[in-house]
Amino acid sequence: MTHFPLLNPMFQNVIDMDLTSTQLLASETLSKADSWAKVAYLAAAVLFVLSLAGLSKQTTARRGNLLGIIGMVIAVCVTIVAMLSAGNAMAVYTMMAVAITAAVVVGAILAARVPMTGMPELVAMLHSFVGLAAVLVGISSHIESYTDVPAGELLIHDIEIFIGVFIGAITFTGSIIAFLKLRGTIGGKPLTLPGRHMINLLMVAACVGLGVWFCQESHNAGGQSMTALLVMTGIASLIGVHLVMAIGGADMPVVVSMLNSYSGWAASAAGFMLKNHLLIATGALVGSSGAILSYIMCAAMNRSFINVILGGFGGGGGGPAAAVEGTVSEFSVDDTVDLLEESNSIVIVPGYGMAVAQAQHSLAEVVKILQSKDKQVRFAIHPVAGRLPGHMNVLLAEANVPYDIVLEMDEINDDMPETDAILVIGANDIVNPAALEDPNSPIAGMPVLEVWKAANCVVMKRGLATGYAGVDNPLFYKDNTQMLFGDAKQNVDAILRALQGN
Ligand code: TAP
Repeated sequence: MTHFPLLNPMFQNVIDMDLTSTQLLASETLSKADSWAKVAYLAAAVLFVLSLAGLSKQTTARRGNLLGIIGMVIAVCVTIVAMLSAGNAMAVYTMMAVAITAAVVVGAILAARVPMTGMPELVAMLHSFVGLAAVLVGISSHIESYTDVPAGELLIHDIEIFIGVFIGAITFTGSIIAFLKLRGTIGGKPLTLPGRHMINLLMVAACVGLGVWFCQESHNAGGQSMTALLVMTGIASLIGVHLVMAIGGADMPVVVSMLNSYSGWAASAAGFMLKNHLLIATGALVGSSGAILSYIMCAAMNRSFINVILGGFGGGGGGPAAAVEGTVSEFSVDDTVDLLEESNSIVIVPGYGMAVAQAQHSLAEVVKILQSKDKQVRFAIHPVAGRLPGHMNVLLAEANVPYDIVLEMDEINDDMPETDAILVIGANDIVNPAALEDPNSPIAGMPVLEVWKAANCVVMKRGLATGYAGVDNPLFYKDNTQMLFGDAKQNVDAILRALQGN
């Protein structure tokens, strides 16, 4: 019997019948279509790999994005064309048209309305959709008859369904909690229930038991397999809630990339259930790149990946954090301009507040003027500055800041003591000395930009409010720190006007 793993099971039924000459012809056409679909899917998978490679560098990111778009267009078109040969093509196309139209409308409205600073929330919400899709695909695969699954593969198919639904349910509820945390609807403090690791372990053990029961019952007439599947879905949903609730606000960047990874594995599992090779490959690419990103973020925040996942971290070192006191010194816009005029080496540290204020374009103009005065001006980028990986790089690229003056934390931290002036624009947690000086701080151990080591440091923000991690910042009270209060855009505009007037 010929088996066509890529195409809809309906094709397989056609092939299994006794073939008349017309049917033989149809089968040949299907075989050709299947081969073309395979080639197109392979091309799309290669384009996705090239896209990821392109996205790894700022200079090639646009090309990477384009390759990804082309790969996705090919994948969608081939899937749509493959449906042409389905027996009830009209019904399939009607369903697809309704689903795609609704998705396009909702997606376009959301994408147009969401500000850059709201991207992590949107991404978390989209991850939850992938998780939910994997759950629904799994449950419907189980409801569907298994006629297209060869007898020897029945157990594997059951295991695919069970694992796919398990990962999907964790991703679904975990992403919803992450969305609510990122939005601030749920507080950043980790929920540390007594014996929480034991609770997780018991829930996982229950799921394993239900998995065994599911596989045993799956092919018994009147069996209880659906009950096992649904109970496991409920427990896995609780695991997702509990896992993310236990993670503190300071570790949320890792959670976003970790859920990104889970959503990839959920998509891959759905690919196994649907026997769609492209979905398997794409899911694996997302899953593994998300896992690598999580690892990089953990390294950047000096956290162990296992500790972050098991939760309870990012909320403090146990004891109370040291009280932050002292006197704050204030600078005016003119004082800041005078300092910039007197300095030869200047480092700018952008943070979330710069994204909120959208100060990057005026800032790029300020940099041009300072460079024209023969000053060395560089940007220092912390790996978790802002609210999503590469947030600051995107904003600076948008303002056409040359890449060669945008340096990563590791490349520039050692230069801080030789720097005349540092401008911190809307950043807070990433320049907090408590991370290095206070072992009880919720961000203790996180590497930060050591701006206080420079001769002068000007911090531009609206007040003394804490940042995302909710931690007070002793930097504001240091002798060589001056606060320039106000909206970052208004202050950068004022600095620009003053520099242009000079
Ligand atoms: P934050 O520590 O969040 O501090 C941003 C500061 O910007 C705030 O303290 C706020 O102070 C100021 N601000 C807000 N609007 C402003 C405006 N219009 N003008 C001037 N200042 C303004 O930002 P950060 O230093 O970039 O650190 C990032 C934080 O987010 C880290 O804790 C990180 O773990 C977390 N996080 C990062 C990610 C990723 S992947 N990057 C994802 C989720 C969470 P005022 O209110 O006083 O003005």
